Amino acid sequence: MAFGSGKVWMNGSLVDWSDAKIHVASHVVHYGSGVFEGARCYQTKQGSACFRLPEHVERLFASAKIYRMDLPYTREMMTDAVLDTIRANGYKSCYIRPIVYRGYHTLGVNPAPCPVDVAILTWEWGQYLGDEALEQGVDVRVSSWTRLAPNTLPTLAKSTANYANSALIKMEAVADGYAEGIALDAFGHVSEGSGENLFVIRNGIIYTPPLSASVLPGITRDSILTLARELGYTVREEHIARELLYVADEVFFTGTAVEITPIRSVDRQVVGAGRRGPVTEAIQRAFFGIVTGERPDTHGWLTPVYTSRAAAAEAANAAAAVKGR
Ligand SMILES: Cc1ncc(COP(=O)(O)O)c(C=O)c1O
Repeated sequence: MAFGSGKVWMNGSLVDWSDAKIHVASHVVHYGSGVFEGARCYQTKQGSACFRLPEHVERLFASAKIYRMDLPYTREMMTDAVLDTIRANGYKSCYIRPIVYRGYHTLGVNPAPCPVDVAILTWEWGQYLGDEALEQGVDVRVSSWTRLAPNTLPTLAKSTANYANSALIKMEAVADGYAEGIALDAFGHVSEGSGENLFVIRNGIIYTPPLSASVLPGITRDSILTLARELGYTVREEHIARELLYVADEVFFTGTAVEITPIRSVDRQVVGAGRRGPVTEAIQRAFFGIVTGERPDTHGWLTPVYTSRAAAAEAANAAAAVKGR
């Protein structure tokens, strides 16, 4: 099912997509008082499975804590709710968007009197930067917008408010004919893309900005740090100068939406050979091996959605019946 159909989980109930509504006077609409997650369910050879679901749930709770939001559900309940939503829609693979937000009560700036509401959306979403991007790479620019400065909006929280900055970065890049923008932090170091973490390779060493460079603690970023070390690469989390992007051998984005997307040029300067490089390819192979089920899930990163093939078929039939109604 495409974006805009199926069931949505809202405050404990599954409702039709068209009924998943909030009031325009909800606090989140006016003040960006929401935190959210973006995760993926993959169709592996062993059946559908969510990638690093406990880590996504944990980051959601961390984001909520930073914003003093007490979820009315436990981590286990949220995990089950994600799995229930996927099953209710009969998805084999999908994108998962849980959101925790301040709802309808008053419109004073203080969110505390407003309820903490929770919803989970799912839909089928392909490659965020286009199907060819994984192989061909994308052209990006360094943004004229700076990423969130320390002690302004916290970047350890995946807050809806942070995405006003992301939208400025993305709109500028697209308006100028680029696929994406890379923002610098308030001190001029390389930070991240509008919705992606960044890795740079030079002379066989892999660099990525530290969490203190105003980056989201990406779950794909963490997975790539693990896989790259396992492949024997030296990996350094350290500040990156803008000009390293121009003289790098390879640069790539990571994220749930983009997975591992090579960057072939920055500011119209060709990166390395201008196409996906060997290190990026080796890391892609390791990552996609796990999420397709072709390589063993040695880290326990996959949470099965359906306990058996029969259960999967039953859920798909139930979802088709709901759709046909
Ligand atoms: C600003 C930003 N940075 C990085 C990422 C990558 O994080 P993850 O790998 O957890 O999807 C995302 C995507 O959620 C993001 O929005």
